[in-house]
Amino acid sequence: MLYLLDTANLANIEKAFDLYPMDGVTTNPTIIAKENIDFIEHILKIRSIIGQDAMIHVQVLGSTAVEMIEEANNLLDKIGGNLYIKIPVTSQGIKAMKHLHNAGVKITATAVFTALQALVAAKAGADFVAPYVNRSDNISSDGVGMVGEIVDLLKAYNFTTKVLAASFMNVQQVHASMKVGSHAVTLNLDTFENSIRHPLTDSSVDQFVKDWEDIYGKDKTTF
Ligand code: E4P
Repeated sequence: MLYLLDTANLANIEKAFDLYPMDGVTTNPTIIAKENIDFIEHILKIRSIIGQDAMIHVQVLGSTAVEMIEEANNLLDKIGGNLYIKIPVTSQGIKAMKHLHNAGVKITATAVFTALQALVAAKAGADFVAPYVNRSDNISSDGVGMVGEIVDLLKAYNFTTKVLAASFMNVQQVHASMKVGSHAVTLNLDTFENSIRHPLTDSSVDQFVKDWEDIYGKDKTTF
């Protein structure tokens, strides 16, 4: 199971990679635009924080396969390390996936809203497919149901493509996506931290410290 951080915010990436067992970072054009920075320079800063082995998923913007392939090649030249090219599941995107997959490029099919889109992307060579959970829920569809269906169909047809569930608004969506077998999730730092916080954990720790200090004072277990 993989945890990725869905942000280009350097402070959040530094904090998450320092504290937590993160596997990589995903960005999209909106996430990059929020930071309002030099694109490649910024991605290289992310790379230097997370190291060469952690995944970075970076999205192309072109509307034709030719443009997407050109952008992908530029990103591959400039970024390096464990890089996945994010390509939307449009017709041109699927053409670009076929080409790039044949050239040995790692691909994440993004903006997935149906299981059939995910299957075609898998057949075109995508390594990950990214179903958008919250955006589906927001149109009264069933985001987690879609994730589960994709997991089942990829397995039924023996694809090695993994599901990278994305677009989360809350912890419940993340939890439910994991329960239906998503191989990976990408989420922002707040949602990740909300998923591990519990008031009873905090009060238990406070009580342990108080009980210990009542007998041993400020000495810790290292004495
Ligand atoms: C994933 O790859 C997308 O960048 C992202 O999760 C979309 O999330 P949003 O719906 O919160 O914008």
